[in-house]
Amino acid sequence: MIHLNVNGKSYSVQAPADVPLLWVLRERLGLWGTKFGCGIGLCGSCTVHVDGIVTRSCMLAAGEAEGKKVLTIEGLPEDHPVKRAWVAEQVPQCGYCQPGQIMQATALLARDPDPSDETIRHFMEGNLCRCGTYPDIRRAIRRAARERKKK
Ligand code: FES
Ligand code: FES
Repeated sequence: MIHLNVNGKSYSVQAPADVPLLWVLRERLGLWGTKFGCGIGLCGSCTVHVDGIVTRSCMLAAGEAEGKKVLTIEGLPEDHPVKRAWVAEQVPQCGYCQPGQIMQATALLARDPDPSDETIRHFMEGNLCRCGTYPDIRRAIRRAARERKKK
């Protein structure tokens, strides 16, 4: 049995401790916003936060997340500046990679509220997008940073 705290709710899941967290999120908890892409930590589509640290959920055993707080795209408020910026800048194309992109971007802004273009590029480079939305993603991050500054 694995005990998890996901988006502020407690769950007990009958599963081996070494099953990837991504599997538990999607298959057991029905949190389908977190996507399966490569399964080997290379694409970023499965990105969540674990105790505030940006994490590839395909690479973390669910048992390792016990006693920690997991945040997925579903747990990010709809009026979060990053989600709002994504809508305002019309970032998504097919949308598949976007939950991971957003979770990566929120982690960036949590650690650096006013990142340079270079920092954005560097921090986001492990999140791949087959539709090529990279310039829109960077614009949305800059917009979210500006909005947060105004508050
Ligand atoms: S599915 Fe986890 S990094 Fe690609
Ligand atoms: S929006 Fe299609 S893969 Fe990124």
